[in-house]
Amino acid sequence: MRAWRLGGAAAAPLAEEGPEAAALWAAGATAVWIDGPDLVAYFPDDAPATPPGDGRWEDVPEVDHVAAYLAGLTPVDAGAVVVAPTHCEAVLRAGQQVVWLDPGTAFGTGHHESTRLALEALGMLPLAGRRVLDVGAGSGLLAIAADKLGAADALGIDVDPDTVPVARANGERNRSRARFLVGGFGDVALEPVDVLVANLYAELHAAWLAAYAALTVLGGDLLLSGILDPRHELLRDALALLDDAGGVGGPRLAWVDARRDGAWWLVHLRRVV
Ligand SMILES: C[S@@+](CC[C@H](N)C(=O)[O-])C[C@H]1O[C@@H](n2cnc3c(N)ncnc32)[C@H](O)[C@@H]1O
Repeated sequence: MRAWRLGGAAAAPLAEEGPEAAALWAAGATAVWIDGPDLVAYFPDDAPATPPGDGRWEDVPEVDHVAAYLAGLTPVDAGAVVVAPTHCEAVLRAGQQVVWLDPGTAFGTGHHESTRLALEALGMLPLAGRRVLDVGAGSGLLAIAADKLGAADALGIDVDPDTVPVARANGERNRSRARFLVGGFGDVALEPVDVLVANLYAELHAAWLAAYAALTVLGGDLLLSGILDPRHELLRDALALLDDAGGVGGPRLAWVDARRDGAWWLVHLRRVV
């Protein structure tokens, strides 16, 4: 690609909407913009030999923006887990586990606050011997991390069928036993679990709280992430509703704590009845 640069004179300043720009667009420019006093237009390599105006050609280096983005990614330290792109070296502190993960088409590289909060919260729980369900697994990162942190079983489900092959490939790359299924929460039959982690959003968590509780064994933990400030209050309201509706013997959840990272919250609940 080449750029055609027209020098602007102070007496007759050039503009992105001016006649010179219109002539450049008409000649096949793919972008036209003002750069200081100049008007610059991108042209493909098969552009006219001399575009309109008294300009000069400049070479524009081809940049592979995807490769540049990937190369710029660095490992994420999320408590007991470090998430590292495969081109990086991972430096681990004692007790930390690494999950190798390159960004793909599925959400979940550890760079987003909501994922990081969920990873940190998983790392603070005892997971040895416990069954973990990751609702909305995306890239599979949370289920893979749970497996690496000692869970007896880690299952991730996702309603988006495109994510599950990505999650499985990430699992294989990490020699993880985490399993992944295509399915929406409420649509697929699920066994009871000891830990339910879900990085979705507040309204969905509030709507599904009773179903989450029914699926989690007594003493089990619920880590609900993806909650934008100040919507964690919705969870408090949903908890109160669950108490009212539970009656005798219905599942009850207790608020353990809420942690925040920037504008994002994670709420930790525990099934107590
Ligand atoms: C914000 S991403 C979370 C990905 C990953 N767990 C993380 O923490 O980075 C939410 C994921 O939930 C999935 N999802 C949305 N609604 C769902 C539902 N009803 N049942 C299961 N998965 C769902 C989306 O397809 C998406 O992959």
